[in-house]
Amino acid sequence: MAQKDVGNKIPIYKLKTTSEVMKYYDEWGDKDKYNKDMVDWNYTGPKETVEIFNKYQKNKNILIFDAGCGTGLVGIELKKYGFENFHGADLSQTLLDTVPENLYQKLEKVDLNQKISSDDNYYDAVMCVGTFTFGHVKPNALDEFVRITKPGGLICFTINEGIHEEYGFDKKIENLKNNKWEELEFFKSDYIASKDVNAWLGLYRVK
Ligand SMILES: C[S@@+](CC[C@H](N)C(=O)[O-])C[C@H]1O[C@@H](n2cnc3c(N)ncnc32)[C@H](O)[C@@H]1O
Repeated sequence: MAQKDVGNKIPIYKLKTTSEVMKYYDEWGDKDKYNKDMVDWNYTGPKETVEIFNKYQKNKNILIFDAGCGTGLVGIELKKYGFENFHGADLSQTLLDTVPENLYQKLEKVDLNQKISSDDNYYDAVMCVGTFTFGHVKPNALDEFVRITKPGGLICFTINEGIHEEYGFDKKIENLKNNKWEELEFFKSDYIASKDVNAWLGLYRVK
């Protein structure tokens, strides 16, 4: 799969380490540049993902974990559908500082490649949009998402098409189908169509 350049300062596929990724977003978040670029690029990841999630999730009073929440674009979409209880976690403090006030009940700076601090079966659902991409969060985070989600809860995420097989997301998703989750949706979404970058969008129910 071609490594497509989304036209940012460093091509995203060149990012290798967590500290490079943190610096990249800390700089990108400065002066609201990330949000402005997402509007300019017509980034549809959050909208597409929350739309699918909402199709399956009828109870709006649930507690949701937004993994890699960035500036809160997923929270903004969740709110439009009437969801109100969500926690956000991200590696970049600069992006977290940009999240609109009172949108999330809790915000935390975390590295999602490490164990998540929440208890088992704590959340009703997990959303993770734009965060499974080059050099970012690895497939093992999906095991953590399953662990912190209640049985019957939903896990909804995008995976940049360029890393789906290269990083082993395909195998991880298949393994989890054995006894941890059932697949509700899995399709190629528009994501950043203006840059010709698509993402797989998956929605799974924890067993
Ligand atoms: C493309 S942005 C997506 C942000 C947001 N979900 C959205 O859709 O606008 C990717 C996000 O992943 C975060 N990220 C990258 N690596 C991470 C890690 N190891 N742990 C937590 N967050 C990480 C970045 O800081 C950034 O906010």
